[in-house]
Amino acid sequence: MKANIVVLPGDGIGPEVTAEALRVLAAVAKKGNHTFRFTEHLMGGCSIDRSGVALTPEALAACQASSAVLLGAVGGPTCDDPTAKILSEQGLLGLRKGLSVFANLRPVKVHPALVDSSPLRPERLVGVDILVIRELTGGLYFGQPKGRDTKDGHERAVDTLEYYDFEVKRVVELAFRLAKDRKRKVTSVDKANVLESSRLWRQIATGIGKANPDIALDHMLVDTASMRLVTSPSSFDVVVTENLFGDILTDEASVLAGSMGMLPSASIGDGGPGLYEPIHGSAPDIAGKGIANPIGTILSSAMLLRHSLGLPAEAAAIEDAVYRTIADGCRTADLGGSLPTSRMTDEILKRL
Ligand code: IPM
Ligand code: MG
Repeated sequence: MKANIVVLPGDGIGPEVTAEALRVLAAVAKKGNHTFRFTEHLMGGCSIDRSGVALTPEALAACQASSAVLLGAVGGPTCDDPTAKILSEQGLLGLRKGLSVFANLRPVKVHPALVDSSPLRPERLVGVDILVIRELTGGLYFGQPKGRDTKDGHERAVDTLEYYDFEVKRVVELAFRLAKDRKRKVTSVDKANVLESSRLWRQIATGIGKANPDIALDHMLVDTASMRLVTSPSSFDVVVTENLFGDILTDEASVLAGSMGMLPSASIGDGGPGLYEPIHGSAPDIAGKGIANPIGTILSSAMLLRHSLGLPAEAAAIEDAVYRTIADGCRTADLGGSLPTSRMTDEILKRL
């Protein structure tokens, strides 16, 4: 097959990890006689430095016209400054909205050989295999009104948690579809004891649950869910939740896997190009040292093959190669080893 993949290396360790994923994709292309064309664009802090905005209209248009987008990481020092007017994160949010990728899939699997890298007790980690589906284009991140003003002599800031029924419906339905090929259990996470938007969410999820009697549906309050994620993580299968809840819960869940560097993500919508990125950030402290873990990005490229290019066998081959590489004891610094970034990829390629 032919595919046109836009690569956004981004900031910090982003360029180092995307370069490794491209090596893996090139190997897959060669083996399967596929033609993947890669085009790079700037996004994030590097784009702000060049053109004053985190995502240029040209870069967004290229992404919209692509088969899929592979992103490294964005984020610079601007997020530490609460008065900054241009944030590299705006590029990411603009991209998610511009691609209409309303569902962010964050699988969290614990490799048996890495249970000791997690701060949790090993026995709690046995059998952990969670797919968190985070709503990505609504909720507190995008609701209007949003902004600052002065009211009654006080400076005021407003964010709005807003959901339309169709936004909830499409993401919860996706959760049910994906649960069919897993353990057939969906946990819908909300804060229905306080938030009106959560009551709408729960009402819609309940309706979808009734229409899918072969899937077990649980509702869980977000505070309870955050506790259960560390006390009984293996009790979860598919988790579906609102944008900000999902942001927080997935960082928490990433601890289970031993290192954030291991985890991929896929952001998908209704058939347009998907956006694939590791869940870790730009890690400026280790940028340029060649020691970042490339696995999160390599597994993201596997998700790209599966969800955007319709190549599930190739995706599974990458995942299997990564699994065996870890089983054989290969470790980057985040996992307590000393293998440089590109050597980790060499090991994965050997097993592909
Ligand atoms: C994530 C990140 C982003 C988010 C930031 C960088 C805007 O934390 O992808 O989880 O909050 O969505
Ligand atoms: Mg986050």
